[in-house]
Amino acid sequence: MKLLVTAGPTREPIDPVRYISNRSSGKMGFSIAAAAIEKGFEVCLISGPVNLSTPTGVERIDVETARQMYTAVEREISGCEAAVFCAAVSDYRVREVAEEKIKKSEDSLQLDLEKTEDILGSCRSRFGFKGILIGFAAETENLRENAQGKLEKKGCDFLIANDVSRSDIGFDSDQNEVIIFSEKEPPRALPIQDKVAIGRAIIELIEVAINS
Ligand code: PMT
Repeated sequence: MKLLVTAGPTREPIDPVRYISNRSSGKMGFSIAAAAIEKGFEVCLISGPVNLSTPTGVERIDVETARQMYTAVEREISGCEAAVFCAAVSDYRVREVAEEKIKKSEDSLQLDLEKTEDILGSCRSRFGFKGILIGFAAETENLRENAQGKLEKKGCDFLIANDVSRSDIGFDSDQNEVIIFSEKEPPRALPIQDKVAIGRAIIELIEVAINS
């Protein structure tokens, strides 16, 4: 059984020395990958730039931008039975990256941004993925409504929602507290606990779904 996991942030360049990114540490995605290895899965982990070591047994592919992550997922997903999209992918990138470092000459600076590829949203429609599809939702408001919307819009079997306005869970903490939204069952809340334990719960979800 092979699982694809995305983790960490992406970096979208502005010029040769600057980029747009976010606070994802990769801990949540790496915990899912480690939990899958414990249960005997083969794991392909596609990760943005993070400071974490690769769990033993995991095949890791490093990427920087959303476009690179999209290409890696498109290439790897066909060989997988399940996929978990935990990466905090930048929604926008700079349309024209400056070739030289931008000089501090004006009082203000406008960046022209364009949307990046929706990787999770492409799995069913573009990549023809038929396996178990799990997305994450990082929300700072209206968590339940937004997560339910993403579950349906992106064609996921499960959507794991976390409140990223809190400092004790979500981005860059060792713990998380999530609500699991499912196509078939009412939402289920998991109490605050280590990301390792949340990772194990997500793998259990996949095992039950595959065997049902
Ligand atoms: O890495 P940590 O520090 O441990 O933090 C964990 C986390 C907070 C990053 C993680 O728990 C989490 O919430 N990951 C999802 C972050 C996110 O980008 O959420 P979103 O609601 O913006 O996106 C919804 C889903 O679409 C996600 O599965 C995301 O991976 C995916 N997406 C988003 C944009 C895009 N262009 N392509 C995508 O595939």
